[in-house]
Amino acid sequence: MALVDKRKILIQLDSDPHASVFDRVVAVDAGADEIFSYASVKPEQVQGLVHGAIFTRGPKSLKSTAIFVGGSDVLAGEKLMAEALKAMIPKFGLRVSIMLDANGANTTAAAAVWSAGRHLNLKDAKALVLGGTGPVGQRVVRLLAREGAGIRVGSRQQARAAAVCQEIASRVPNGRLQPLGIANESDLTAALEGRTLVFAAGAAGVVLLPKAARESCPTLQVAIDLNAVPPLGIEEVSVTDAGVDHDGVICYGAIGVGDTKMKIHRAAVASLFETNDKVLDAEEIYQLAQTF
Ligand SMILES: NC(=O)c1ccc[n+]([C@@H]2O[C@H](COP(=O)([O-])OP(=O)(O)OC[C@H]3O[C@@H](n4cnc5c(N)ncnc54)[C@H](OP(=O)(O)O)[C@@H]3O)[C@@H](O)[C@H]2O)c1
Repeated sequence: MALVDKRKILIQLDSDPHASVFDRVVAVDAGADEIFSYASVKPEQVQGLVHGAIFTRGPKSLKSTAIFVGGSDVLAGEKLMAEALKAMIPKFGLRVSIMLDANGANTTAAAAVWSAGRHLNLKDAKALVLGGTGPVGQRVVRLLAREGAGIRVGSRQQARAAAVCQEIASRVPNGRLQPLGIANESDLTAALEGRTLVFAAGAAGVVLLPKAARESCPTLQVAIDLNAVPPLGIEEVSVTDAGVDHDGVICYGAIGVGDTKMKIHRAAVASLFETNDKVLDAEEIYQLAQTF
């Protein structure tokens, strides 16, 4: 069989007891010919699985094999990704492209920031990320920081926000980050002061931005909610809103961002098969969206 005829194999490493059906469906739609799904994967099992991927086809054909790391636990996914990278042997060309999208955190954050960037120059944006300590919120902060935005990171506990800012500052040394504890309405009003962009990246079913607070911020231009489970994260913004004007603020709901998220997810998986050396984390996935 000629090299060009190699079937595209996506190896799904998932930390959950059942490998994600969602991720498998997207993989098919993104052009994978075969999906090898592994569930309940533990870090110590990754090396063997990766060696199965890199020692079978010759280096010139390895671009037709790729790894997708998923599962609902983002921290577990990060560990699997780190182990997979350790198990590759790039100096002999023995590596395959790999993507991390545990719990959809990378594609969701990329879609949210990309959506905001359609309406604002992110470099000049004054952002507030509510729920900025969760996996999705942290990635939103990371991407905004790399764009040069000024960012307030909100948490119910200041110390948690500070820890996130510290971690992100180690990745983005010039990041303009300010941790905030937001424990009540007056904290929220103060956090919103002068903001042009707000993300609600809190847990499912938690309202982080009530209507009155949103209305108390005359500088606000764009508001993006990532919570799709009622009650929604931004009061009176519909889950399907995609660039809808609410009282002069352009708003997105979680499903409104979802179309872009799906497009980014498919494009990212498809791009894994272009070369055998891609490592797609939040930043690389966000970069892909810039070509849309
Ligand atoms: N559309 C998609 O494909 C997609 C994919 C992934 C996630 N999501 C959604 O995106 C949002 C963020 O996801 P995530 O996994 O990062 O969320 P998460 O970890 O569950 O929660 C994010 C943050 O919300 C805060 N929080 C938790 N419970 C709260 C409560 N009762 N009241 C106020 N704040 C609370 C916590 O921050 P502090 O403790 O620091 O305050 C937490 O770090 C969720 O709504 C999720 O459903 C959507």
